[in-house]
Amino acid sequence: MTERSLYDLLLYVFLASAFLTFPVLFFVTVPYGRHGRAGAWGPTINATLGWVLMEAPSPLVFFACWWVSPHRGAWPATVFCALWMCHYIHRAFVFPFRRRPGERGMPLLIAGMSLLFNFVNAWLNGRGLFYFSAPLGDAWLLDPRFVAGVALFLGGFALNLHADRVLAMLRKPGDTGYHIPQGGLYRYVSSPNYLGEILEWSGFALATWSLPALAFAVWTAANLVPRARSNHAWYRATFPDYPPLRRALVPFVW
Ligand SMILES: NC(=O)c1ccc[n+]([C@@H]2O[C@H](COP(=O)([O-])OP(=O)(O)OC[C@H]3O[C@@H](n4cnc5c(N)ncnc54)[C@H](OP(=O)(O)O)[C@@H]3O)[C@@H](O)[C@H]2O)c1
Repeated sequence: MTERSLYDLLLYVFLASAFLTFPVLFFVTVPYGRHGRAGAWGPTINATLGWVLMEAPSPLVFFACWWVSPHRGAWPATVFCALWMCHYIHRAFVFPFRRRPGERGMPLLIAGMSLLFNFVNAWLNGRGLFYFSAPLGDAWLLDPRFVAGVALFLGGFALNLHADRVLAMLRKPGDTGYHIPQGGLYRYVSSPNYLGEILEWSGFALATWSLPALAFAVWTAANLVPRARSNHAWYRATFPDYPPLRRALVPFVW
């Protein structure tokens, strides 16, 4: 089997599995964080270590794909690499240490599945963008898809960072409990961090105009839309004074 045929096969399996996973996650809430349950999904590891281990393949594999790429000198490829690295250096090496941990560890199975997911996703996107597709010339920097996609990515990134920061600040050192987040987009929705993440990868798909990036955007929504619904239901069940007009994910809509 050539690398190209493996790439094609994995890409279609990856995309199809996102569509299959989406409805399943409305019935199965993955047991980490507030949805963790003692003994569910087997032994656990320290959640900070779990975040670093499972996210680290994303920047490492993607950067390696860019580094060995024949398109490395082109500006669009450099911008795509910079966007990805901004998100994933933060996610793998900053976010795990900024979050204030709760009481629960992370199931080893979830860390392992996420590590595999991130490895495959970074390889598909890195090889897809920087090797298997025709290089995008510098004129792409003025294409409306690139401009709108980068703007969407950056807006989503800012929202995701801010929303995760608000959550981290809810816990004083040593506190492992849950509180009602306030301010920013929390005025309107329960999971603005997920909304930001979905906007980011939708923007990346638009800016790159590539199938692996679209598959990743679909996966992100498939993961986070059902979880936003579970988070919202959990807030309502946990806090009787939870703001009644706050929606799950999309302001004023849902
Ligand atoms: N691209 C993808 O498919 C994908 C998938 C999953 C996550 N992510 C991203 O990864 C980040 C973290 O995801 P997550 O699912 O762990 O988010 P989350 O459930 O919102 O939790 C984020 C952090 O805030 C804490 N926290 C949440 N709600 C809190 C509250 N009401 N009071 C006090 N602390 C609270 C959590 O503590 P506990 O851990 O103790 O609950 C955790 O440390 C997000 O930015 C998300 O967008 C991306």
